[in-house]
Amino acid sequence: MTTVRVLTGIKPSGTPHLGNYVGAIRPTVRASREPGIDSYLFLADYHALISTHDPARVQRSTLEIAATWIACGLDPERVTFYRQSDIPEIPELTWLLACVCGKGLLNRAHAYKAAVDKNTADGRDADDGVTMGLFMYPVLMAADILMFNAHRVPVGRDQIQHIEMARDLASSFNHHYGEHFTLPEAVIDEQVATLPGLDGRKMSKSYDNVIPLFAPREQLRRLIMGIVTDSRAPGEPKDTEGSALFQIYQAFATAEETATLARDFAAGIAWAEAKERLFERIDREIAPMRATYDDLMAHPQRVEALLRAGAAKARVQATPFTARLRAAVGLRPLDDLALPPAAEATGTKVAPPVFKQYRESDGRFYFKLTDAKGHVLLQSAGFDTPKAAGQAVARLKTEGWSACPDLHALIEASAPAERIDAALALLREA
Ligand code: TRP
Repeated sequence: MTTVRVLTGIKPSGTPHLGNYVGAIRPTVRASREPGIDSYLFLADYHALISTHDPARVQRSTLEIAATWIACGLDPERVTFYRQSDIPEIPELTWLLACVCGKGLLNRAHAYKAAVDKNTADGRDADDGVTMGLFMYPVLMAADILMFNAHRVPVGRDQIQHIEMARDLASSFNHHYGEHFTLPEAVIDEQVATLPGLDGRKMSKSYDNVIPLFAPREQLRRLIMGIVTDSRAPGEPKDTEGSALFQIYQAFATAEETATLARDFAAGIAWAEAKERLFERIDREIAPMRATYDDLMAHPQRVEALLRAGAAKARVQATPFTARLRAAVGLRPLDDLALPPAAEATGTKVAPPVFKQYRESDGRFYFKLTDAKGHVLLQSAGFDTPKAAGQAVARLKTEGWSACPDLHALIEASAPAERIDAALALLREA
């Protein structure tokens, strides 16, 4: 089975509430357990610096959010779970992408445009209070995604534009430097569950109507008792339609449990009793996770160790990939450019270069040409079959590099053409 790489960034801001759990955390954790999925989840702490300049808050939120995801069942052994700022390759890639990113593209980004529109409406300078962090946000996000060549990125509607920009930047880089990046696709969950809050409107921090996911048991009970209901007395039939209490119950209960509560609504259950049932039902699901969460919050060093292990796992890919990208753009060691001393001048026999053919973990077939000192002269892109790779090698051997311009899109040269031609000539003579 081919694996699909799915990547999601979590901005560490604020304390997670039941709405986040039902709408994002629970479905994402479940999806990460599906077969054939290679899941990358990270704490987007560089992104957090765009919206806050409070260091203690960044650190605290990072701990809270990491502990939340682990407590909710994310398995760090199974997925790659890391903190963005532990991967120095990400800001490095941000720069490489910034250099193929038109400024005009970023001028059109929604978040930036909204800030400019607001400033203009308020009669201020268009860029008042806009940082380069906000302006560059889509480039950083593209680096997050492209670093791991994610196929799919599950996001909310507000983020679709950012995925499109990541595709644009990937294409533009590929166009200049060869096929390095997979073009990611946004995945939008159309029926993402939104949970009503205490006042019946969508549960959201901005409405101040949230139930914190890991509120202590007694606080959870108190908050649930405060959910708005109508004024029907015990014994009067109650509507499930439009009842926040009923909707929240449904998000946690099985179909049978929900059907039972619906019957009890019709039979006139007292609001206090319905709330008690909701409280017990939520607490049954949350209590074991709360215990894990509390334990992790009391032992931040465990969370730190998990995140470091996740970063090490992520960097197994990020480090060599970034090395390839650096070479592709021309950030290369200079000694590659040294011409080998001509054999006749030194009177010594120069060892010929070698072709090495190999298969990568992506299942494709590659080759490289290295000189006697092991410096790479040519590096191929992935070929579908060993035969196709072998044919390209054969042509280079017989025709040389300059005579095969059609191969130049598939093969990256790390030395001047005359030097590669000389090396191939040496190989023919050998
Ligand atoms: N921008 C996303 C948000 O605000 C978080 C995020 C950062 C992200 N990098 C990402 C999401 C990469 C998906 C992929 O929610």
